[in-house]
Amino acid sequence: MPVQETPHEIYPLDLLLLADPEESVVRSYLSRSLCFTLNIENKIVGGYLLLPTRPGTMELVNIAVYEEYQRRGYARQLVSHSIAEAKTRGAKTIEVGTADSSFGPLALYRGAGFRLTGVDRDFFVRHYSEPVLDNGIQCRDMLRLTLDLD
Ligand SMILES: CC(C)(COP(=O)(O)OP(=O)(O)OC[C@H]1O[C@@H](n2cnc3c(N)ncnc32)[C@H](O)[C@@H]1OP(=O)(O)O)[C@@H](O)C(=O)NCCC(=O)NCCS
Repeated sequence: MPVQETPHEIYPLDLLLLADPEESVVRSYLSRSLCFTLNIENKIVGGYLLLPTRPGTMELVNIAVYEEYQRRGYARQLVSHSIAEAKTRGAKTIEVGTADSSFGPLALYRGAGFRLTGVDRDFFVRHYSEPVLDNGIQCRDMLRLTLDLD
């Protein structure tokens, strides 16, 4: 699979901002994350970050695919890659968070085996200076999903 680890200094900011519109929030986790890009014909088409959070736990953060490449299964490939990568690095659990109105990502993660384990109420209201919209609905709560790796 043409997914490769990429230094965070050269990971494209426009790709990061597709998944998280608040640059200050992105910067708060970018340098602590491992960064991976999916490259096709020497072009980055998508990517994700893997953030070590607690011992034995990594979080899949900021998965994004450029609009012109969406709905071709690339994010599904990236999610599978993140699961394999977290396992290789010794994690026992991989987590992901998504907005309560992000139905596409929710289907993506559920389809990969993640299960809903919690709700971080008002996350998007507390951490973002402007309302964040997805599918025309304001994002309020963050849904937390988990997949056990053993
Ligand atoms: C979410 C995102 C990464 C999906 O990328 P993608 O490459 O288009 O996704 P895939 O083609 O691999 O889709 C896999 C499955 O996810 C679900 N899915 C993905 N996008 C969807 C959408 N817009 N609407 C409904 N379901 C969607 C579907 O179940 C899909 O399977 P299907 O195409 O067989 O129906 C992409 O839309 C994106 O970059 N969005 C902006 C950034 C973002 O919101 N990131 C998520 C942060 S939590």
